[in-house]
Amino acid sequence: MKDFLSVSSCSVDELLELLDLSDKLKRLYQKGKQDKCLSGRTLVMLFEKPSLRTRISFQTAMTQLGGNAIYVKPEDIGGIGKREPIKDMARVLSRYAEGIMARTFAHETVIELAKFADIPVINALTDWSHPCQAMADVMTIREHFGKLKGVKIAYIGDGNNVTRSLAFACAKLGMKLVIASPKGYELDEQSIDRANEIAADTTVQTDNPKQAVKDADVIYTDTWVSMGQEDEKAKRVADFQGFAVDGSLMAAAPNAKIMHCLPAYRGFEISDEAMECPNSIVFDQAENRLHFQRALLKMLMS
Ligand code: CP
Ligand code: NVA
Repeated sequence: MKDFLSVSSCSVDELLELLDLSDKLKRLYQKGKQDKCLSGRTLVMLFEKPSLRTRISFQTAMTQLGGNAIYVKPEDIGGIGKREPIKDMARVLSRYAEGIMARTFAHETVIELAKFADIPVINALTDWSHPCQAMADVMTIREHFGKLKGVKIAYIGDGNNVTRSLAFACAKLGMKLVIASPKGYELDEQSIDRANEIAADTTVQTDNPKQAVKDADVIYTDTWVSMGQEDEKAKRVADFQGFAVDGSLMAAAPNAKIMHCLPAYRGFEISDEAMECPNSIVFDQAENRLHFQRALLKMLMS
């Protein structure tokens, strides 16, 4: 495994190895011990979009592993693929650093970086996928349920980058996913087919949230307006009415854990009540971004 661009291109063994290493390093750091395997190594972090969790957790993970991270905004370098071709950037960065992580609009940008870089490239969210999020989510589910196989997730809302990576992770690791989206906002058929090709009958779509959460172990949601879709906000908010994770939906699955990749827009895709309820594990998810990525960096860069 040279790069980490999509959950769907990793083998089940690679994913399980990453999850086990995440758990192991989490315990080590919680005991106050450290693994400095990336001493003297540098991760270049390219961001075309805002970030709280991804940026800070990657940078902290690099520091904890004894390495260094450099945060680069598009304006610092004249835009990704604008001042110079992506293939030139990839080869130059390969001469300086030991890893690249990138959060971009186009998924093709991270593919192009990986194609031309001699060093690992990590997808830190594109319009198409968010694999680091999905793996931290799976790690969190395993901590709470003690298993992955057979766990049922109901994803309510936009069929987006987060949904897609979650679908691939569920299919690879034996979970069931029911996605409830309004018409026109479903996850694309190709991604559903890919998930069901990985493991038959793992991913199902509906437009009925109450039906989706029936017998669910987890209710998951994400923003209705992803980064880059701000101009569509008014239409999206109108179209997603009835798809909020709130008290009424939680009543249909009272024991389900509540998950959200964050940032959360209270009063839109999730209510304050759902965010703050005892079953909410959203901050465990956020914390596990650090633990998963520490393992990923160790595996790819040491
Ligand atoms: N969940 C997530 O990726 O958060 P950020 O956008 O803050 O990095
Ligand atoms: N779907 C959201 C996820 C944010 C972490 C977005 O792309 O903006």
